[in-house]
Amino acid sequence: MADTVIGIIGGSGVYEIAGLEGAAWQTVDSLWGDPSDEILTGTLDGVRMAFLPRHGRGHVHSPTTVPYRANIDALKRLGVTDVISVSACGSFREEMAPGDFVVVDQFVDRTFAREKSFFGTGCVAHVSVAHPTCPRLSAACVAAAKDLGITVHDGGTYLAMEGPQFSSMAESKMYREAWGCDVIGMTNMPEAKLAREAELCYASVAMITDYDSWHPDHGAVDITDIIATLTGNAEKARNLVAKLPGLLGAEREPCPHGCDRALEFALMTAPD
Ligand code: ADE
Repeated sequence: MADTVIGIIGGSGVYEIAGLEGAAWQTVDSLWGDPSDEILTGTLDGVRMAFLPRHGRGHVHSPTTVPYRANIDALKRLGVTDVISVSACGSFREEMAPGDFVVVDQFVDRTFAREKSFFGTGCVAHVSVAHPTCPRLSAACVAAAKDLGITVHDGGTYLAMEGPQFSSMAESKMYREAWGCDVIGMTNMPEAKLAREAELCYASVAMITDYDSWHPDHGAVDITDIIATLTGNAEKARNLVAKLPGLLGAEREPCPHGCDRALEFALMTAPD
């Protein structure tokens, strides 16, 4: 048995977690550059927690400039075992409405201006991301949301776009109709891929703020509307996070899905 250490990467509108004992903002050095911000550490119900605001306090990093590698590396260096991503997203489905949460289980990665791997020249590895999220951790997020009476969708495909502009209507319809995606956002990739390379369990709680631009009865995506919905969602997200220590427990078995052993058969480069 090993200690559980829960890492939360908070998105727009989620810049802190409440109720942490011994809370302190820590600077964590990484070989991959500076993380988005200091990391808030402490314990909640006897479980160690680490919280990193993805865009930095004051929202200084755009989805493209978020230092994804440094963020995942910094959490790993703090001993984090389980990463929960909290982020805003648009919806491609009528029944997935603004205010609902989606615990995402698949991604289509359309980002193109970000560093996506810890591996490259000198050390080559190819991890599997066929199942990019951890079912055990995702189930805990769904259970936490249900306990709180939040409308939650268990599974969904997230289209990760580069941004920072929102999609055109033609793109929105293509992602929804031809590609079968359920939600769209700008930040879960390459974060999920890097978490897998770092052998961390990863789950994504995507909070719906809008219907993107495909919906005939809703206008273009507007950041003012998004912020209004986010303000309501942020409270729900904080309550969800507070339930996780109780659901995950202070000690953990090896991940039943192998997230914590992802590199076992992935390294190509021969050891020295
Ligand atoms: N984040 C919130 N809503 C979004 C949308 N419609 N597209 C991309 N990212 C988003």
